[in-house]
Amino acid sequence: MKTAFVTGASSGFGRAICRTLIGKGYRVIGAARRMDKLQVLEAELGDNFIALALDVTDPLSIESAFEQVRAASLQIDLLVNNAGLALGVDRAQVSSSQNWQQMIDTNVTGLAMVTHKVLPQMVEADSGMIINMGSIAGTYPYPGGNVYGASKAFVRQFSLNLRADLAGTRVRVSNIEPGLCSGTDFSVVRLNGDLEAVQALYRDVEAILPEDIAATVAWIAEQPGHVNINTVEIMPVAQSSAALNVARNLPRCF
Ligand SMILES: NC(=O)c1ccc[n+]([C@@H]2O[C@H](COP(=O)([O-])OP(=O)(O)OC[C@H]3O[C@@H](n4cnc5c(N)ncnc54)[C@H](OP(=O)(O)O)[C@@H]3O)[C@@H](O)[C@H]2O)c1
Repeated sequence: MKTAFVTGASSGFGRAICRTLIGKGYRVIGAARRMDKLQVLEAELGDNFIALALDVTDPLSIESAFEQVRAASLQIDLLVNNAGLALGVDRAQVSSSQNWQQMIDTNVTGLAMVTHKVLPQMVEADSGMIINMGSIAGTYPYPGGNVYGASKAFVRQFSLNLRADLAGTRVRVSNIEPGLCSGTDFSVVRLNGDLEAVQALYRDVEAILPEDIAATVAWIAEQPGHVNINTVEIMPVAQSSAALNVARNLPRCF
């Protein structure tokens, strides 16, 4: 039986990914900070789901989580680096530095350090797959995207650089870059619990669902061993690019 390690399993994409992978016959270690949510998932998914407390921003928590994986003699075949968050939509010049720090700690440092724990055993086994959760925000800039978008640009380039370092091994790395998705806590967290603003964001839009992302993870994982999916960019049909912004009547500079 293959073992998957899914971060951010307590909600949204992560929870849907756990459900799908269990359905595909994986043993799934689902990790997140909120153990109560993971325990509800454990009750739903049964013995092949293992709930694991993990704060990816805390080196001691990462150490303890992987010590538990080692103690259980589990070899991770598939790492899904899904834990992440956006905080705020303010322009950079007025945004909170604590929010910036938390996004960097979670989306950049946390993702890198969890990967660092898993890579040696995958290389040793000459087998394994890492699927990172990037975002279209890592490619397309938008007002208020500042550090969140930059953190996902890190995820994109980190994924590609891992492939460069893993040349000659059978370890595979992919980056999924979703656009607008509903049915997760992402916007509730980003908009600090302002449910009216969250509703307005998704009003009359058929957005991507967590199950769509979970199906994408499963599709990547099912590719034959000689195939590496580098990047999957996935948007709802209702979302598309807009024109570049032009500011008119700016005061002349001298
Ligand atoms: N929804 C979208 O529109 C969208 C679009 C593109 C990309 N994404 C990306 O998709 C991923 C999942 O987002 P989602 O939409 O499913 O949002 P979500 O429902 O808010 O889920 C985020 C998950 O990340 C976990 N997490 C946050 N901080 C953590 C930490 N310090 N340590 C461990 N786990 C942590 C949360 O668990 P705990 O709070 O229990 O720790 C939660 O399970 C994120 O990386 C996000 O950037 C989302």
